[in-house]
Amino acid sequence: MTRHLLDIDDLSAGELEEVLRIAERSVADTPKALAGKGAALVFEKPSARTRSATELAVFGLGGHPVYIQGSEVGIDSRETAEDVARTLACYHSVICARVVDHRTLVRMAAAIDTAGVGVPVVNLLSDLAHPGQAVADVLTMRQRWGATRGRTLAYVGDANNVWRSLAAACAMSGMSLRLAAPEGYGPSPADLDRIARLGAVVEVTTDPAEAAAGADALYTDVWVSMGQEPEAADRRKAFEGFTVDEPLVARASSEVIVLHCLPAHRGEEISAGVLEGPHSVVWSQAANRMHAMRGLLAWLLGDDAPGGVVL
Ligand code: CP
Ligand code: NVA
Repeated sequence: MTRHLLDIDDLSAGELEEVLRIAERSVADTPKALAGKGAALVFEKPSARTRSATELAVFGLGGHPVYIQGSEVGIDSRETAEDVARTLACYHSVICARVVDHRTLVRMAAAIDTAGVGVPVVNLLSDLAHPGQAVADVLTMRQRWGATRGRTLAYVGDANNVWRSLAAACAMSGMSLRLAAPEGYGPSPADLDRIARLGAVVEVTTDPAEAAAGADALYTDVWVSMGQEPEAADRRKAFEGFTVDEPLVARASSEVIVLHCLPAHRGEEISAGVLEGPHSVVWSQAANRMHAMRGLLAWLLGDDAPGGVVL
């Protein structure tokens, strides 16, 4: 059975730990799981971090990344998502994709399973999830604290794709979770049930100060995610008062770390002073995207990547 990675809880907590341990190794100490193999990287949306992190992770594993813009392959316009996946699996040992609609990834993975070609599909961000980011986030917290168990993360902002994967990863890593979001932008009951099954009961509030009180980590993301541009004005109004700024940081632990997946909008979800200030770990987080992807791909592919063409 091919293991796909559409969200972080496609891994067990123990498997996430294995991924993190591989990510903590140097490139030289990581088996060349993709030696002489190809990796397809399909992007239906823009990227500054994920593309570079994944390309270099593939290179570090001895593989050859092929960057493919969504418009080139035209998922469901030029041909079906299923046919795109089957085609890419003729050449590549892994298909990584950033998609508009999470269901595209589900269909690509199902097409691979039906064909029995053993090429994993990896989510590089969808409207629902961003698992590679979550691995980098937990990696960043481990580097700061040694261990995550028992620590409290307060997320201030939209309960979006980044939050869903982050919350799942934190629950799987023994952390406590708080979330502050305006009415209408918080988690669904299904989201909360899922996180509870993974081991954490999320404390949800509409008050950022309540969420931040004494927290070990503060996390935020943009108020307007890619694809939500038509809602931008409404969202900016709804999220007024949800900026991670100096007064909010002062309510958290004196040693709080501030995380943001980036891109950041200074003066909206985070103040410039906090983003560039002494509590911020955002640049370590960005760098860790590459190590996290190397760990994820090395774990997923094992010592010898299946499928694809040996170059
Ligand atoms: N954090 C993140 O995924 O950044 P990009 O959208 O630039 O890849
Ligand atoms: N929530 C953001 C994350 C960007 C990395 C988005 O989906 O646009």
